[in-house]
Amino acid sequence: MRINAERLWEKLMQIAQIGGTPKGGVCRVTLTEEDRLGRDLFIKWCKEAHLSIEIDQMGNIFAKRAGKNPDLPAVLAGSHLDSQPTGGKFDGVYGVLAALEVIETLNENHIQTQHPIEIVSWTNEEGARFAPAMIGSGVFANQFSLEYAYARTDRTGETLGNALEKIGYKGTIPCGNRSYKAAFELHIEQGPILEAENKSVGIVTGVQGIRWYDLVLNGKETHAGPTPMSYRKDPVKAVLPILTRFYELTEIFADSKLTIGFLDAKPAIRNTVPSQLTVSVDFRHPDEQILTAIHQQATQIVESFSDKNGVTAQLLPIWYSPPVIFDEKCVQAVSEAVQKTGVSARKIGSGAGHDSVYLSKVVPTSMIFIPCKDGLSHNEAESAEKIDVANGTQVLLEAILKMAL
Ligand code: HGY
Ligand code: MN
Ligand code: MN
Repeated sequence: MRINAERLWEKLMQIAQIGGTPKGGVCRVTLTEEDRLGRDLFIKWCKEAHLSIEIDQMGNIFAKRAGKNPDLPAVLAGSHLDSQPTGGKFDGVYGVLAALEVIETLNENHIQTQHPIEIVSWTNEEGARFAPAMIGSGVFANQFSLEYAYARTDRTGETLGNALEKIGYKGTIPCGNRSYKAAFELHIEQGPILEAENKSVGIVTGVQGIRWYDLVLNGKETHAGPTPMSYRKDPVKAVLPILTRFYELTEIFADSKLTIGFLDAKPAIRNTVPSQLTVSVDFRHPDEQILTAIHQQATQIVESFSDKNGVTAQLLPIWYSPPVIFDEKCVQAVSEAVQKTGVSARKIGSGAGHDSVYLSKVVPTSMIFIPCKDGLSHNEAESAEKIDVANGTQVLLEAILKMAL
């Protein structure tokens, strides 16, 4: 039984038209009109595959295929449909549509599994509009309350709860307490390892830890011209040694990663010294102790530079996602699926966060990776080879069958 790569590829290219960008990427930011259209199209395809649809209070979409024994817990597969503002055609959506392709393959081969099978599309995996990331799966796994999630705001002050309402996806079904036998997420690696080693599939064993902060410096608005440099309380000048020391931490702690995504000055006027500077900080490491040491040292660095020349500095934690190790049986199921499919593979840890991080708290979970071109993702040039898209989906099919038959 082989999945139909052409059918899957066509869907991927069709949904990529929704929010398609001139550079060939996608912009389907969570809870926007484009996200709604993507969700609608996915649900249309699910109904054509005779799946029953449920939408929970966080707008997570569940599409269910009945099993022979309805009392058995379902096997779950999926990912997310939302994208980065300058995202690519595969991040998230590949895992959702590959799960649908698995079901369409079972349908056309008239295979009835013992366990039901469900596809899931999680809300706001990216965290690009509403921080933190992975909040739909986070509420599902009791890591965040529904109230906390609804109250998260974007840069315009719009709340997640309102945005969910506006696109018509604020479901009434409780978010959480749905039990599953196992869960798999298929995703592009978003890094260079599989391509460099010419491996078709990554058997994902876990995900590194993530810490997000807002580094906020407060100074004083003054005129860019007449104000002598010695009179200024300039948060931009104050942040420079802090960021230098932050980047030095990535040399001190091997394998650590630091991303400064945005630096927002207020009032952001060319000829006014800013009164406030907000800098996004994303630290990552596979080892919890080391990530804690980075956290402690970053906090000390900020404290040591705060209140110099009248500028205060605060490092405000906004999200901590500890490293996770995936369920052994699920990882084993993927390894056996790889054997059966006969593709080259290697075990690999995930550098990116995924909904499976939170899902793994409440359901035995693991992930499958395929290579992406130049390891690029969160970039409009993100791309993957059709053969890899097909191989990953075939492995997903075999892994699901191992758990569902
Ligand atoms: O931040 C991440 O790693 C994921 O793309 N949300
Ligand atoms: Mn993703
Ligand atoms: Mn992403």
